[in-house]
Amino acid sequence: MAKNGVVIHYLRTAMKKEIVLSGIRPTGFLHLGNYFGAMRNYVRMQDEYDCYFFVANWHSLTTHPDTKTLQESVLRVVAENIACGLDPEKVSLYVQSDVPEIAELYLYLNMLAYKGELEKTTTFKDKVRMQPENVNAGLLTYPVLQAADILIHRAVKVPVGKDQEQNLEMARNFAERFNHRYGETFPLPYAFNYNSELVKIMGLDGIGKMSKSENQMTTLFLADEDDMIRLKVKKAKTDSGPLAPNSAKPDYIQNLFTLMGLVSSADTVKKFEDDFNNSSEGNCIIRYGDMKKQLAEDMVNFINPIRTKALDLQNNKELLLKIIRQGADKARTSASATLSTVRKAVGMEYL
Ligand code: TRP
Repeated sequence: MAKNGVVIHYLRTAMKKEIVLSGIRPTGFLHLGNYFGAMRNYVRMQDEYDCYFFVANWHSLTTHPDTKTLQESVLRVVAENIACGLDPEKVSLYVQSDVPEIAELYLYLNMLAYKGELEKTTTFKDKVRMQPENVNAGLLTYPVLQAADILIHRAVKVPVGKDQEQNLEMARNFAERFNHRYGETFPLPYAFNYNSELVKIMGLDGIGKMSKSENQMTTLFLADEDDMIRLKVKKAKTDSGPLAPNSAKPDYIQNLFTLMGLVSSADTVKKFEDDFNNSSEGNCIIRYGDMKKQLAEDMVNFINPIRTKALDLQNNKELLLKIIRQGADKARTSASATLSTVRKAVGMEYL
């Protein structure tokens, strides 16, 4: 027994936590879909893993050249992430441009990335369509910079949505090519999520996902004021009720129940579920007006503390700057260790 205990103790101390990394683009306000799709996962990971989360401001330059609004957005995104529960003492929370080691790794990886494969990337093709007047090389090599972001910390788990699968696959390809050409250096990174918790949150019109850029009235932002939240929920799409007991729910109604499941008590959800299931044509028990009123209040109670905390932080710029400086220090310690190995491997060390 005692011997086992000792062995387990040694294993524990020798076993390093796996490295998790994700990047957040600072282009717009965070919304409920971001919260339940990403941030809630980050918060959960911070105790289990060695976590790096950063704001991808270099990436933003590929599509948003105006750096004046960018600075403000970067600080807001940092504040919002902390308000959602990320603890800068536990994780490294930093701004990409504060870690120049990433740029050097990006340079080496660029020699391993081929024009043809970069041009074929879905996100690149989408962006070419969206901004045909500014198809810059940064846009083309976006996946290379993303690979550098990940590999610089030798991260293996990358919590991202489905739309990032292709970029992750490219990161693995670049890492494999590097390992093949210069010797085993990088572990291969994979997209990661707590599967059971991936909820899809649609806009309040029941069409598409909540989105930073599309119809602002159908997306609940973490920065929305109480009355704005009430107004948006009130305007959410409903209909005149189910025509038969235990009907299937239309998407826009299901979405209201999903939202309620996330922010309301189990009793409340059950009451409206029962009302829905017991309703039929000519006997409509569920009252969507009441349901939305309840949802609005529970939503206000959910979002208000996050908004308030994020605002407090944004008004305390000194503290925010201290946090990102501390994040950069932690990130650079890890990044420079990797880069030193990389420089040796590539044959760039002369001194
Ligand atoms: N491309 C990601 C997005 O659009 C943001 C990002 C940049 C990222 N670098 C990353 C995500 C590294 C994960 C890992 O959301």
